[in-house]
Amino acid sequence: MRSLLIGLTLIVMAIAVPRTAAQKVELSLDASKPGAKIDRNLFGQFAEHLGHGIYDGIWVGSDSTIPNTRGIRNDVVAALKAIHVPNIRWPGGCFADGYHWRDGIGPQRGVRLNPDWGGVIEPNTVGTHEFMDFIEQIGSEAYVSVNLGSGSPQEAADWLEYMTAAQATTLEKERAANGHPAPYKVARLGLGNESWDCGGNMTAEYYLDRMKSFSHFVRNYNPAQMEKDQMLKIAVGPGGGEQRWTDWTETVMKAYQQHTWSWDINGLSLHSYTVVKWPPAFKSVGFGEDEYAQILKTTLDMDDLIKKHSAIMDKYDPQKKVALVVDEWGSWYAPLPGSNPGFLVQQNSMRDAVLAALNLNIFTRHADRVRGANIAQMINVLQAMILTDHEKMALTPTYYVYKMYVPFQDSTVVPVAFDAGSYKHGDFTLPRVDAMAAKSKDGKLWVEITNVDPHQAAEVELAVTGINAKSASGETLTAPQVDSVNTFEVPNTVVPKPISAKAQGGKLLLQLEPKSVTVVSIEP
Ligand code: AHR
Repeated sequence: MRSLLIGLTLIVMAIAVPRTAAQKVELSLDASKPGAKIDRNLFGQFAEHLGHGIYDGIWVGSDSTIPNTRGIRNDVVAALKAIHVPNIRWPGGCFADGYHWRDGIGPQRGVRLNPDWGGVIEPNTVGTHEFMDFIEQIGSEAYVSVNLGSGSPQEAADWLEYMTAAQATTLEKERAANGHPAPYKVARLGLGNESWDCGGNMTAEYYLDRMKSFSHFVRNYNPAQMEKDQMLKIAVGPGGGEQRWTDWTETVMKAYQQHTWSWDINGLSLHSYTVVKWPPAFKSVGFGEDEYAQILKTTLDMDDLIKKHSAIMDKYDPQKKVALVVDEWGSWYAPLPGSNPGFLVQQNSMRDAVLAALNLNIFTRHADRVRGANIAQMINVLQAMILTDHEKMALTPTYYVYKMYVPFQDSTVVPVAFDAGSYKHGDFTLPRVDAMAAKSKDGKLWVEITNVDPHQAAEVELAVTGINAKSASGETLTAPQVDSVNTFEVPNTVVPKPISAKAQGGKLLLQLEPKSVTVVSIEP
């Protein structure tokens, strides 16, 4: 009876996950031909005062029964440490252009409303010191977005002096009195957010005038950031590929070409969500192959978008001094039923893992210009790394992609050649596989291969020149279904598993599951 049941179960599984014969993929790479550096900041995160992104997600308060260090959740800190978060963009988002930093320091916090996100009370319990403590606990760096929308250059200049001054100014003494005598490091400074929309609905020309003045007056005084580690100033850039956005890039970059000593920028931001159309209507869980194929097809538009804006930047900045910083990207689906629609709560599935890998690979292919990216958003909001519910925590499939990609931080691109083939579903045709390779800081060779096809395994024949490749080992991430998720109750449905291969006839043979993301190191 038992074996009959097992037999029946296997038949049902075979129907639920139709599989066809493995597809051969030839992949070759030359380890002796290193390309651009993959800036670790491509793996940045974004944490906005939105829904449970900050409160509950990071902050529980020191009197909470949830284990914490000075109010910050220990479980979340440990999980984020493991993915080596290079920088966190904070406090927004749209929130940043209504944020007044003085509400978030000292013993008396300004209690405000959060009109952008659900109209809820913003207690400002998490302000500058708490955010910086969090950054320090996880070993990351601060990317602070200043209020260019409703604030003034003076307000932002004071905030930077408060955070970074080492000399005994009034603001430096105030910071010390509030518990932090040493200056904070601010690695990146956002000069507004989406100033063409929620950041003040400005024209490019008006934004430019304001931005120049913020760029001049908002100074970083941290002595450790004077010569090296200088703070990078990132201007608001486009939010899409249409003409209004290419015009915006033209206007800012043309001005940059003629900039004088008194203002400068080091980056131009780009925001692009995978949404198909607004308002977001795709489900984040409980979907099928139609939605899998359409979302992944749409996400690949990121490549053209980067090419389009990079071409304009090349015209005015051929030396690529200004980085393109994709500081908001990721999937944006319909809010989970029953959640506050202003909190942007969604589940995170195997589809999101594939989506993350495809985008990260696109960024690395443009690594000479794209030197920063921040997925939206780190915890409990949009394409999150982590989901929390009071004391419970779940790591998402996207989290595991970031974990597997850690060796690519500050690595050097190694060109990889392959015939991607195609995966077709209905009206959608996508490359069947995607791949990327790089040499990590310690000289090791790493390869990433994504098998987009949800039915066919990929039989990869990897030919390596430049080193004598004997074996490969690493991790692979796949799941029973395209919409498989990790929940608080069942947190390990989508987790990486070990994978390895030995060289045969001078090639490494890797058998990759359908809908999978794989990262291996090549051993000589
Ligand atoms: O990430 C959510 C919101 O999306 C951000 O606040 C805003 O910048 C963008 O429109």
